[in-house]
Amino acid sequence: MKNEIKRIGVLTGGGDCPGLNAVIRAVVKSAIIDYDYEVIGFEDGFKGLVENSFRQMELASVAGILPKGGTILGTTNRDNPFAYPVIVDGKLVKQDMSHRVLANLEALKIDALVVIGGDGSLSIAHELSQLGVRVIGVPKTIDNDLSATDYTFGFNTAVATATDAIDKLHTTAESHHRVMVLEVMGRYAGWIALEAGLAGGADVILIPEIPYNIQSVCDKVNERYAAGKKFSIVVVAEGAHPVGEGMVVKYTVAESHDPIRLGGIGNKVGADIEKITGIESRVTVLGHLQRGGSPTPFDRILGTRLGVAAVKSIAEGRFGTMVSLRTPNIVNVPLIDAIHELKKVPVDGDLVFAARSVGICLGD
Ligand code: F6P
Repeated sequence: MKNEIKRIGVLTGGGDCPGLNAVIRAVVKSAIIDYDYEVIGFEDGFKGLVENSFRQMELASVAGILPKGGTILGTTNRDNPFAYPVIVDGKLVKQDMSHRVLANLEALKIDALVVIGGDGSLSIAHELSQLGVRVIGVPKTIDNDLSATDYTFGFNTAVATATDAIDKLHTTAESHHRVMVLEVMGRYAGWIALEAGLAGGADVILIPEIPYNIQSVCDKVNERYAAGKKFSIVVVAEGAHPVGEGMVVKYTVAESHDPIRLGGIGNKVGADIEKITGIESRVTVLGHLQRGGSPTPFDRILGTRLGVAAVKSIAEGRFGTMVSLRTPNIVNVPLIDAIHELKKVPVDGDLVFAARSVGICLGD
């Protein structure tokens, strides 16, 4: 099998996250050192595959990138080759450009492709694999919402960033006797809010999986106040919503695989708490800070293991699969298992149980 593969491609798709460079580095090093493969890096995700924008990756190309956030290859969450945004007669339309991807891969003699991405990019990878492209997926996202893997890399760093923010909000909340609301990312899953809230000792954590009742939240804040704790920390996932109401959509991105961008629920929660309890409240929206910065050791190690495993998977011919953490091992799972449904926080799971047991209000 080893001799059949001469040149592989690698790309990073979707929103960036810390640890992407660790994977790229591992793919390039392992491919060159262990298997003597050539590596082509496609620029800006699938856009590079459609537009034939690429660079040859050498060992020198990945020197020093392990601690760096972002992706040296660039990325975009707008350019799905099967519904590629183009302007025709001044209007945005989407066209199937998959034939161009196949032609470019053929012309470049790419024998296999490593796609590092979240559910959107891995869905595209799955479609390409059905067209005969030899694909291996690598799961990334700060949201940790991909099925068939224990964790996605990037999540641990995002949780560390959010926890640091909670620690900082604690001291100012306590000094001013205020309620501090922190809105964190995570799309339709509450993993970042729940884990950072637990790590930071939040008093209230609101996640999409448990619709909240604002009165329960205010009861918790008032109860603390009456007990002499005149401040509270409330962590709100961007997808959290009151019982019977929908999520707050900030805007839509027409060219994106998932056009909805959430945001704004933190402001609503803060305003409602201040109105009902009369306690001064302030809101912080952490935003893209969660996507940046140097990856934690956990994400560097996970990214390295996944990158190495992706190249080994190519050498072993395990195409159409994703490399996945099933603690303590890295295994291969069919791509379809990773994308068929989002991994949400189990409401009867251990994390939620632990949060309740230490007195955290989950809004229900
Ligand atoms: O999926 C990662 C993520 O950061 C989500 O948590 C967030 O909802 C979204 O991407 C933001 O997307 P954009 O970078 O397009 O604003």
